[in-house]
Amino acid sequence: MAWRFYEACPEGAVPPGGKRRVVVEGYPVCLVNLGGTIHATGDYCPHEAVSLGDGGRVEGETLVCGAHGWRFDVRTGACQDDPGVELPRFPVGRKDGWLYVGFWEEDEEE
Ligand code: FES
Repeated sequence: MAWRFYEACPEGAVPPGGKRRVVVEGYPVCLVNLGGTIHATGDYCPHEAVSLGDGGRVEGETLVCGAHGWRFDVRTGACQDDPGVELPRFPVGRKDGWLYVGFWEEDEEE
């Protein structure tokens, strides 16, 4: 197993304090820019699978779902409304002006 990074979007597509839904290798991801640090979480709200990147908002370090207001800590993925729930999180890389999202994958067989 190893982290593999895939191109997500240009760095400027996620402004400070902003967010963006991207689809990386077919998987919907929400990118959030907290003071220049980009965080990546799963895009679908665990409550009723509404897109967080398209419809929600960022308040400080919290991602708020636009449908019913569930709140998630962007840094940890933890849901503040249901302690047993959290968003999947992914590492983010940067190269040549682009953002990359990492997925933990099986090693390719040779
Ligand atoms: S779908 Fe996100 S809070 Fe209901």
